[in-house]
Formats: sequence, structure tokens, C-alpha cells
Amino acid sequence: MNIIELASLNAYYGSKKILNNINMKIMKNKITAIIGPSGCGKSTLLAALNRMLEESDGKVHGGIIFDGKDIFSYSKEDIRKRIGIVFQKPAPFPMSIYKNLTYAPIYYGTRDRKKLDEIVKNKLQVSGLLEEVKNDLNMSALKLSGGQQQRLCIARALTVEPEVLLLDEPCSALDVKNTANIEEMLLRLSENYTIIIVTHNLQQAKRISDYTAFILDGELIEYDETEKIFNSPDDKRTREYIEGIYG
Ligand SMILES: Nc1ncnc2c1ncn2[C@@H]1O[C@H](COP(=O)(O)OP(=O)(O)O)[C@@H](O)[C@H]1O
Ligand SMILES: [Mg+2]
Repeated sequence: MNIIELASLNAYYGSKKILNNINMKIMKNKITAIIGPSGCGKSTLLAALNRMLEESDGKVHGGIIFDGKDIFSYSKEDIRKRIGIVFQKPAPFPMSIYKNLTYAPIYYGTRDRKKLDEIVKNKLQVSGLLEEVKNDLNMSALKLSGGQQQRLCIARALTVEPEVLLLDEPCSALDVKNTANIEEMLLRLSENYTIIIVTHNLQQAKRISDYTAFILDGELIEYDETEKIFNSPDDKRTREYIEGIYG
């Protein structure tokens, strides 16, 4: 079943066209990887999906259907609650671990202390951080290691119970061990969430994603099951990229 459908999606910064006629269906509760050379439009595509593009003066023409309705028929607030985003560089709020995780729930109206405690515990658990930080919940999140900060940011994105999680190169600043932690976490999360991950790490796409989309110069060159993209792509350009010939 698909949760998001892109129908002739075009995206622009000013008069510059960044994405050209993208058509794709994103499958629910699967991991979809977006790959392609730097500057091809991967981040632009993610930002279009939860209407962050508007904040950097980007524009979208064409359809983005989420859960059966055009994304512009939802409020920005609603769409960003249902489609969360996590960026490359972990950016915890400069406050305690506990407050990082209760910030959004409080904003959206949860006041009950027990309920908040439960959210904190649950999200730390799914992000694999609970054992590491359970005695330091009042410590500043900025004191965590880079890998822990990124897991906290993913946990924080989950505190408002989004249905879709967008991740823009979440591991590019992390070492192998922290990357493995995040990958394990994403595989666990994919049972309950739809995950779209931009990655320049082809091995990562291969390891964790169900579907892979290859973008080149703003065009969707090929989109298929990850297995197919990596083993027998239809397009010569996909094969060349996978083999590391360019990008
Ligand atoms: N805020 C912006 N204003 C104008 N152009 C931008 C902006 N952000 C990105 N671009 C341009 O859009 C193109 C695609 O960028 P991006 O989506 O960030 O690529 P990727 O994530 O694949 O590296 C690039 O040519 C980039 O220079
Ligand atoms: Mg990018």
C-alpha cells in the first residue's frame, strides 16, 4: 500500500527548476532510500514532502498526495506532525535530554507528567538510548556523543507520533559503529513507520532499504526494489552510479 504519491512533481528555487516530473509511490511501513550525486535534488525532494521547501523559498508544482489528499490541503503544522524530518547534522535543543523529548508533546498539548514520562521512556527505548542515558535525563543533550545526539534527534521526531519519517543523510557525520546503531534502529522502526532516507552511502541503502530511487539532475532515473536496483538495474546510468563511475 502506498502512503505518498508524487504525480508529475516539479520543484523550483526561484526560476531554477530543481526536480523535473517526478512520479513515484512511497510504500507504507517500508524503507525507501533516495540516492544520487551531490546536488541532484535529494534534499529538495525530502523538503517538498513535508512542506519545508516553502521555508527556503522553494516552490512545488504538481501533486504530492499524502494519505489520499493533496499535501496543500493540510495545514503546515498538521503535515509536519504527520511527516517528521531529521537532518544530517544532529541538532538537539540546548536543553536536557528529557526536555528535548517532551518539547513537542507539550507544544501539542500533553501536560500530564506521567504521560510525558512514558513518552520519554518509550522513545528512548525505540531509539536504543534508554540504557545509555536513563540516569542522565536531566543532563544537557549537548553532552551526548554525536551518534547519541542523532539517535536522540530521531527519538525526538517520533515523540509526536508521525507516520512518515524523513531522514536526510542522518549518518554522514557518524562513524561505523554509530551508523550501525542507527541502521538497526531504522530497521526496527520500519515495522511501524514509513521511512524515507537520503543517503550517499550506497552500502547503507543496500543494507536497510526495501526500495531505492536513483535521482540524477533532478530526474528520477529509476525506482524499484532495492535488490533490483543494485543487482540488475534497467538504466545504464543507474548501473554506472552503483558501480561508482560517477557521483
Ligand atoms: N535554498 C536554495 N536556494 C537556491 N538553490 C538551492 C537551494 N537549496 C538547494 N539549491 C540548489 O538545488 C539543487 C539541488 O540541491 P539539493 O536538493 O540540496 O541536492 P542534494 O541534496 O541531492 O545534494 C542544487 O543545484 C542546489 O544548489
Ligand atoms: Mg542534500
